[in-house]
Amino acid sequence: MPSPTDWWRSAVIYQIYPRSFADSNGDGMGDLPGITARLAGLRDLGVDAVWLSPFYPSPQHDAGYDVADYRSVDPRFGDLGDADKMIAEAKALGLRVIVDLVPNHTSDEHAWFRAALQAAPGSPERERYVFRDGRGDDGGEPPNGWRSVFGGPAWQRVADGQWYLHLFDVSQPDLNWGNPEVRAEFEDILRFWLDRGVDGFRVDVAHGLIKEATLSDYEYAGEILGGMAPEGAPPPPMWDQDGVHEVYREWRAVLDAYEGDRILVAEAWVQPADRLARYVRPDEMHQAFNFEYLDTPWIAERLRKVIDSTTAANAAVGAPTTWVLSNHDVVRHATRLGYPVGERRRPGIGAGDPQPDAPLGLRRARAASLQMLGLPGSAYLYQGEELGLPEHTTMPDDYRQDPAWERSGHAERGRDGCRVPIPWEADAPSYGFGPTDASWLPQPSSWAEYALDRQRDVPGSTYELYRSALRLRREHRLGDGSLEWVETAPDVLAFRNGGVLVVTNFGESPAGLPAGAEVLLTSEPLTDDGRVPQDVTVWARG
Ligand code: GLC
Repeated sequence: MPSPTDWWRSAVIYQIYPRSFADSNGDGMGDLPGITARLAGLRDLGVDAVWLSPFYPSPQHDAGYDVADYRSVDPRFGDLGDADKMIAEAKALGLRVIVDLVPNHTSDEHAWFRAALQAAPGSPERERYVFRDGRGDDGGEPPNGWRSVFGGPAWQRVADGQWYLHLFDVSQPDLNWGNPEVRAEFEDILRFWLDRGVDGFRVDVAHGLIKEATLSDYEYAGEILGGMAPEGAPPPPMWDQDGVHEVYREWRAVLDAYEGDRILVAEAWVQPADRLARYVRPDEMHQAFNFEYLDTPWIAERLRKVIDSTTAANAAVGAPTTWVLSNHDVVRHATRLGYPVGERRRPGIGAGDPQPDAPLGLRRARAASLQMLGLPGSAYLYQGEELGLPEHTTMPDDYRQDPAWERSGHAERGRDGCRVPIPWEADAPSYGFGPTDASWLPQPSSWAEYALDRQRDVPGSTYELYRSALRLRREHRLGDGSLEWVETAPDVLAFRNGGVLVVTNFGESPAGLPAGAEVLLTSEPLTDDGRVPQDVTVWARG
């Protein structure tokens, strides 16, 4: 039985992307003091915890997911004292804090990698990474044909002729998790942040740490984005190897030695659901993002299937499901849902691409969020979604910073569009992101209408919809609840979670509610005769 201290089983966790949340010093880059000053607002919104994307020293070739020092703070974001203040303020407000841990790779500016480049082939310094001799007569061919997730080959040659593996950018060399020194170092890094009072870690690329021992070639390598093999292809040798679970069992023991209820969250692009559920077995991690739900098209039957299969796979190992619709790696759901139903998720959108139907996207996004927050389990929100914020879909390409843009030879616009600094005040410079006009990515001129101060206390605004949903979710204990489907028309998805009925209508004909149902919340107004219009979710009692 879950103990009452298992806060994470039902928690709503808000992702802060530090670069783009709040800038206290006006340099155009968000920072830790900016976050600390705005935590009370998140408490007011009603979330239980925050997860911060990396704020560690980094050359920022992959927006901080290229870490040069795991035990410090990048001066762009502040210093360790600012991190301590942020953690203390969160605690005072009753918010938990989760930080990002990037164990698959370091930055090429990490002291270990610099040492590896100075050292000889076969040296202990090189053994911390994945260095190999090349193929071909002069070793001029990469050791195998693996491709980087961001495009191009996954190997880079160094001055003495050896090659190193980088599943992501060339500035992100993969660590060798077969090396006990690497394991010991990361256990120490965990303790460093646990000692500072964090409540857990979101583990970046959790499915990638261990590679198949012989680094066997893989003909589908170029087709894999983040670990999903194409249908019918054999399992990829770089993702979801059984050895990763040993690492997480060790980490779990580290966390369990601390008081409080500290957690590990897997970012693992792994399917099917029962493979993903292996990451949340009782002696491993606590949660894994349900990306299959995020990727499911806006079709009642498909959503029902994925809600069932992922809930069942998690239940089989005693874990809750962890719902998510947006994050810093995917097109925001208010935009994604504005494209024709069933289209493949786009890896970024630019001015030359087909543009979404923005009002439709927002309408569906509000319905999707209300559906998600009605489900039992934990839910992750991405900063700005509570404002109904869309992707920046017309950003001039000159501004793009995601390494995927260059590495894909401009085939993929990349993730900058979901990372734009968020609007707080409609009439302030940088919409209140900071005290000046500076913003590391340009904000669209149409964003005043999304600003928090235009939505707070405005009935029907997306912000108030989220705030009401989070309050009711807590009051009715929906996160700890259980799901029971209610059979209705095929275009309608309806379930009961305890005393609350959640109905989403995907079809053109308005859907009726049971006689006497008391409406608690709706993502859009009902029809005059009290029925649920298309692309609307309702919470009701009775
Ligand atoms: C994860 C992060 C992503 C990053 C990648 C490499 O997928 O979420 O932003 O680029 O790992 O660290």
